[in-house]
Amino acid sequence: MSTDTRPRPGGGPAAGSPVLTVDRLNVVYRVEPEVRAVRDVSLTLHRGEILGLAGESGCGKTTLAYAVNRLHRPPAEVVSGAVTFHDRDGTDIDLLALDREELRRFRWAKLSMVFQGAMNALNPVISVRAQLEDVLTTHEPRMRRRARRARCAEVLELVGVDPARMDGFPHEFSGGMRQRVMIAMALLLEPQVVLMDEPTTALDVVVQRGILDEVLRLRDEMGYAVVLITHDLPLLLELSDRIAVMLDGEVVEYAAAEEVYRRPAHAYTRRLLGSFPSLTGDRGAFVRSGAPADPSADPAPGGHDDHA
Ligand SMILES: Nc1ncnc2c1ncn2[C@@H]1O[C@H](COP(=O)(O)OP(=O)(O)OP(=O)(O)O)[C@@H](O)[C@H]1O
Ligand SMILES: [Mg+2]
Repeated sequence: MSTDTRPRPGGGPAAGSPVLTVDRLNVVYRVEPEVRAVRDVSLTLHRGEILGLAGESGCGKTTLAYAVNRLHRPPAEVVSGAVTFHDRDGTDIDLLALDREELRRFRWAKLSMVFQGAMNALNPVISVRAQLEDVLTTHEPRMRRRARRARCAEVLELVGVDPARMDGFPHEFSGGMRQRVMIAMALLLEPQVVLMDEPTTALDVVVQRGILDEVLRLRDEMGYAVVLITHDLPLLLELSDRIAVMLDGEVVEYAAAEEVYRRPAHAYTRRLLGSFPSLTGDRGAFVRSGAPADPSADPAPGGHDDHA
């Protein structure tokens, strides 16, 4: 696990301050009968923080992530609540009020998302480079060709993909490599928040580990905050600073990862913890490699030299 003891640079001058606030958000699917998929959810994501979002299938994790990024489509509808992005320069952005053009400029640049099943979302007939460059062209139309290419190579290298392969097509990459490409795409414009919906679920444990360690290492370098969604509670406990557990659309538990592990407040969380044999042993043996929200409190995460 953690062997690296470098001091953590943190997420810039405002590390630890809120970057995204979700306030009493309600999302429904207007179907018969109506589904209240997200109920009164309030969460605060801090700069540089890893917020783990757990809960059984159908509890509303993806719906929440989509609504936060304004990607929800009918029959989904945000009925009440607020989502505020606290930009690096001090401006507060009311995400639910952005018009199409403002949203287009906001997404990927300030907040990006790695979608559930994303590694299958790359277009099979377009080269990896062209798909990455497309994001750059949309957001930075004045960027010169050579600079675009260089940025794509740079970000691929960051996530552990050999840039020499960028003219290849998605089917020439393994699942792990395709997922790394998707993460590269999410990091291309150096967003302040990355939503990751089951980013590694389809991959084997070793590949998954390598990718998530990379995400953590880059978090230390780039200072982005992550909302990490997965069913894998042991993994979340280890990687997250704080954890929110959802049940039927509601956040029923929201606390520091260690707190959730040692003193789960909600019966559902206790059941969830109990369903992972690896967690039911000695509770004193809790070890995390993820760094806490307070950058001064603990050494950095590390041990990330295995590449998928
Ligand atoms: N298009 C839709 N129309 C109606 N109901 C939907 C639709 N999409 C999702 N739902 C319902 O909304 C609820 C939340 O679904 P969501 O996909 O957000 O859950 P999830 O926590 O991401 O699940 P998983 O872990 O399986 O990905 C579920 O009850 C689901 O059946
Ligand atoms: Mg989902």
